[in-house]
Amino acid sequence: MMREFDVAECASLPVGAARSLEVHGRRLALAHLAEGFFAIDDACPHRGSPLGAGFVKDCVVHCPQHGWGFDLRTGACDVRPDKPVLTHPVTVRDGHVWVSLETDPSPTAH
Ligand code: FES
Repeated sequence: MMREFDVAECASLPVGAARSLEVHGRRLALAHLAEGFFAIDDACPHRGSPLGAGFVKDCVVHCPQHGWGFDLRTGACDVRPDKPVLTHPVTVRDGHVWVSLETDPSPTAH
């Protein structure tokens, strides 16, 4: 089941910046580009460093540990195509950034 979470005020993250945050028990990297806000899983698939602490250039966030790049729009990795990160839908409403996440499935009837 998809659920939407209010994760930040738009004004709290300048264009060109990224940061890590935890939403519903999940670590995300939120980035603000000229094109809008983007959310991907925070843990780098190489050795788990926080991508939200990386630097952003041309729609790519670069891992702070060894520099692998991840396209914020698609999650694709520039070094290891077999190691993408998940992307999450983002919307902006009333000055806030909302991220949609897959949460636990609803209990099924027996
Ligand atoms: S931990 Fe991210 S590139 Fe190595």
